[in-house]
Amino acid sequence: VKNNLFAKDLCSVETLGKKDVEDLLENADKMKKLVETKGGDRRLEGKIMAALFYEPSSRTFSSFVTSMQRLGGGIIPHNGMSNTSASKGESIEDTTKVFSAYADVIVIRHYEPGIPKKAADCTDVPILNAGDGPTGEHPSQALLDLYTIREKFGEINGLTIVMVGDLAHYRGVNSLAKVLALYPKSKIRFVSPKILKINDALRKYLISNKVNFSEHENLNEVISEADVLNVTRLKKEYLDDDVYKELSGSYVIDLKTVDRMKKDSIIIHNLPRLWEVAKEVDVDPRAVYFSHQVKNGMYMRMAILDAIFRK
Ligand code: CP
Repeated sequence: VKNNLFAKDLCSVETLGKKDVEDLLENADKMKKLVETKGGDRRLEGKIMAALFYEPSSRTFSSFVTSMQRLGGGIIPHNGMSNTSASKGESIEDTTKVFSAYADVIVIRHYEPGIPKKAADCTDVPILNAGDGPTGEHPSQALLDLYTIREKFGEINGLTIVMVGDLAHYRGVNSLAKVLALYPKSKIRFVSPKILKINDALRKYLISNKVNFSEHENLNEVISEADVLNVTRLKKEYLDDDVYKELSGSYVIDLKTVDRMKKDSIIIHNLPRLWEVAKEVDVDPRAVYFSHQVKNGMYMRMAILDAIFRK
C-alpha cells in the first residue's frame, strides 16, 4: 500500500488527503496493539528525532519523545529552548539547518504562527508542527482527537462535534475542523463568547469546503446534539487580564451540562484542564480525556513517525 507521508513535512493538516488520514488512523490502531503486546519495537533504530519546543508542553513533547523511543529511535529533546543558542538570538532558519545535520526528523512547537513552515522551507529533513502560535495549527492533536472519536464511534461521518471555549486562540480547533472537512457528513457546532470566535481564515476554509458548521454563544442551543464535546480552556496567556477575569467561570462543563448530553457521547479536552470542566465530570464514562485521549496521543504520534520513515 502506497504511503504518501514518507519523508513529508506535517505543518498543516491541509496537506493531508482523506486516505492519508485513514491510513494514520489504521496505523495508530496497530501502534496501540504493538504497545499493549510488546511495548514497542526497533523499526526506527538509527533514526534521530530533534524536538525543538520554544513553548511549554507536557503531552505533545513527552508523547513525541516516548513514541520515538518506543519505535527504537533516538532523541534530541529540547523542552524549552532557553539552554540552546536560540536564546542568543539564532534565527529559526539557522537553528533548523543545524539540527538538520544531526536529526532525521524535527518536531517544532513555536509561539509564532508559520514558524514550522518557515523551517520546512530551509531543510529537506521532515518538519512536524507540534503547535504554532495561537492561530496556527496543531496537526497531531487533531489526528489524535479524530482517533479518539473513531475509537468510540467506529467512524467520523455523520457525527456532530461541538467545540466550546476559547476558539480564537486554539490552534487544535483549526486543525480538527479542517480534518473534519474531509468527512462531508460531519457537523461542527462552535460555541464561544463573541470575542473568542473562530478566526476568519478558518471560517472561509470551512465555507469553501462546504462544511456543515454553525457558530453559537449559548452552549444550551447545541449540547443535546453533541456526539463529541471538545472543550478547550480560556487561553489566559493571550487575553487581557480584565477580559480573562470577566470570562472566568463561563462555559463550565459540570454535571448539569453532562446531564443534557446524549448517553452515547464523549467529552474530549486537549488539556491542560483548568476550571472549564468540573472535576466531578472526570468519573463520567463519557469523559475520555484522561482515560483514552492522552494515550491515543502517543499511538497517533507513533503512527506519524512510522509513516514519515516508511517507504
Ligand atoms: N494538548 C497539548 O498540546 O498539550 P501540551 O501543551 O501539554 O503539549
